[in-house]
Order: sequence, then C-alpha cells, then structure tokens
Amino acid sequence: MDNDEKKMEIYSLLVTNDKKAHDEAHSAARIRKVLWFASVVAVALIVIMLGYRVNYLGDKERQQQRQRYYESAANLPRDSSSSLHENHDLESSILMADHFIDYLKRHKKNYATSEETMKRFQAFLKSKKMEIEHNSKGKFNAEYGENTLSDWTNEEFEKMLLPKDFYKNMREKSDFIKPIPQDMNYEMNAPFPDFFDWRAKNIVTPVKWQGKCGSCWAFAATATVEAAWALAHNGEWRNLSEQTLLDCDLNDNACDGGDEDKAFRYIHRSGLAYAVDLPYVAHRQNSCVVKEDWNVTKIQVAYYIHPDEQSMLQWLVNFGPVNIGMSVTQPMRAYKGGVFTPDKYACKHEVIGLHALLIVGFGTSEKGEKYWIVKNSWGQDYGVENGYIYFARGINACGIEEEPVGILA
Ligand SMILES: *[C@@H]1O[C@H](CO)[C@@H](O)[C@H](O)[C@H]1NC(C)=O
Ligand SMILES: *[C@@H]1O[C@H](CO)[C@@H](O)[C@H](O)[C@H]1NC(C)=O
Repeated sequence: MDNDEKKMEIYSLLVTNDKKAHDEAHSAARIRKVLWFASVVAVALIVIMLGYRVNYLGDKERQQQRQRYYESAANLPRDSSSSLHENHDLESSILMADHFIDYLKRHKKNYATSEETMKRFQAFLKSKKMEIEHNSKGKFNAEYGENTLSDWTNEEFEKMLLPKDFYKNMREKSDFIKPIPQDMNYEMNAPFPDFFDWRAKNIVTPVKWQGKCGSCWAFAATATVEAAWALAHNGEWRNLSEQTLLDCDLNDNACDGGDEDKAFRYIHRSGLAYAVDLPYVAHRQNSCVVKEDWNVTKIQVAYYIHPDEQSMLQWLVNFGPVNIGMSVTQPMRAYKGGVFTPDKYACKHEVIGLHALLIVGFGTSEKGEKYWIVKNSWGQDYGVENGYIYFARGINACGIEEEPVGILA
C-alpha cells in the first residue's frame, strides 16, 4: 500500500470512528462530508500528479511534497517550533493518527460529529507535543503521559480550575474553619516515619472524576469527609455525594467554584447525602432534593493547620488526611510519575488556576526528593496509583503548604 492510500485510510478511520453515535440525519451529513473530502483529495491527487510530475522530482523533494500534501489533507498543525515537527516525517504522522484511534478505543471516547473528532485530534496532538517536550526536558523533575484529559484543549482544562484569585483571604473571611487550638492533644515532637500512607490503612476511598466542572472544592471537601469518617468509624467507607454541595450549598457556586470554609460549614450543619441517593451530574440541578429524614454524614469541626510542613505532618499522622489548595500550571495535566516539583518562576508566572485536593501521606524518593501523596479528582487514569500525584514537599511548591485544613468527623 503506498503512502497516499494509507493517508486516505487514516482519514476515513478518523471520520468513521464515531459510528456508534450515528442516526439517520447524522450519517447522511457525514457521508456528504466524506464524499466532499474524498473529492477534494482526489482533485488534490490529480493536481499533484499532473502539476508536479512526481516522477521527475528528486527523492527528497518528492518526500517533501507528499508531506505537505498529507499535512493539509489530514489537517495536521504545522508548527515549526514543535519538536514533533523536527523528526516529523510521514510515518510519524501516520503513527500519531493510529495512536489517536487507539486512544479513543482505550478511553471509550465517542464524538458526535466529524468536526468534533478533528478538533479532538488537534488537541490530542498538542498534548502529545507537550508530553514529548516535557519528558525530554525532565520538566519539573516529573514524567508525563496521556490520560483522559489528553484530548482537551488548554482552555477546557483552565475552565475546570478555580479562578486564580479565588482563595484570596479565605482565612480572614472564614466563619467556620477555626485556627487549631493551642491545647490540642497530640505529640508535637514525635519523630515522623520516613513514609506514611493512609491508603495502606484503608481509610481512603477511591479517586473520583469531577468532569468538565469547576467543582474540585466539592470533591476535595467530600474526600476529606470520607476519610475522616472512615478514620473515626473503624474504617467504614461511605461513598458521599459531591452533588449535595453543588445543589444545596447555595453559598458556593457549584461548577463555578466554591471554598472549603463554606463547604465544611454546610457539611457541619446539614451533612452530605450518600452518592447513591444523590449521584454526581457535574452541574447544579434545579433544586436540592435532600430531605430532613435522609441519612446524611456530618462533621464536627474543621481547623486551619499552621501553614508549614511540620504542622501538616503532625496533623496527618495524628488525625488524618489534610485538605489543601494549590496553584496549577499546565504540565500538571499530563503528570504521570516522579515527584512533581514546579519551580518558583512557574508557580508565580505560569499559573492558570487553583485546585483543591487531599494529602493522604508522604515519603521521600530514591533521589532524596521529599513528597506529599496527593489524592486528585481527575479520574483514576490520572497520574500514578489510580489518580494520585506525588507533589514536592517542604518548599511550599505552588502554595501546597499555604492553607492546610484538617477536620474531625
Ligand atoms: C460512588 O457513587 C457514585 C454514584 O453512585 C458512583 O458512580 C461511584 O462509582 C461510587 N464510587 C465508589 C467507590 O463506590
Ligand atoms: C438510614 O440508615 C439506617 C442505618 O443504616 C437505616 O436503618 C435506615 O433505613 C436509613 N434510612 C434511610 C431513610 O435511608
């Protein structure tokens, strides 16, 4: 099979990948599009064959012609700054298309239209380009790879985060979370173990998926409550409902963000329903259906832990996982291993939004990098160990040690 035939095949695979979403109207439109594209390609082929008299061009030139043709036909980006482009021959383009088709299968992704498929292919190529670049530079000392967010655009990713100044002054404006009491009874100077992980003690519930919704605050708060509950009740796991906060906590803004002070206050007063009773739908629904007689899960108190590594370790070891906020930079989206160590410059100048998460443990890598084990809410194929990120510890990287909160259920 020659390269032109291969290209045609790849394109038609891309176009027909979404077979399942077919209905009559769609498929008619799609057939028209495929026919239209096929005729454009046919015309382009004739033009190339006649106009450039392929046989008389030198090998190298012919290769360049073919590549140019393929790129415009398959609508691939031609970004001269891209490292993908440098070793980007026809074979690697074909590989990328194959890879994308494989990615769609593995992630069970289906797009409604051919336009959507092509838009996602572009976004996927961009993500791949970033991954390759980050991996080759050892960006932030971490490794990068694909996950369910790889076909998102940068803008979509940003929208999933909280606006950059969201948490400003949360501490000063708080009316529920209190400073940790001086006389709280725990070992202040206990030597800490080298490695500690609440997951091994079976009190951490599985990672969830917030979807395209700025609800990290609700996921982090709920994850904190689930862990605190398990810890206080002999490891009993409760699958609690983030949707309770989206629908019923009207002081917060559902998919447009919320803060942990108001969320914990709501949970203290009114409690979280079970996820099975009020499942997550990733938007605020018309009304709050939680009734007086529902079984809900409440908390007793929430404390601001002193914002430093030692105080966080103390709370973590003595009382359970620690709720935190942090600034997010683009590379975090594709994190796939190592200790993610964003530098000061990036944490100051390359922040695209804020995020709330849960620290469940800590350790030190073989290379001597200290890290927090952090539970995320970007699905179980994110990061390592089914949805976790190992984040630099002890240097307040991107603010991770700035506003730690602990709760008691
Ligand atoms: C929690 O409940 C939700 C909604 O019912 C469900 O989708 C999810 O799989 C549950 N998670 C666990 C760990 O059981
Ligand atoms: C609440 O939980 C208790 C104990 O698990 C159970 O007996 C009761 O039926 C539940 N009530 C509702 C309304 O689900």
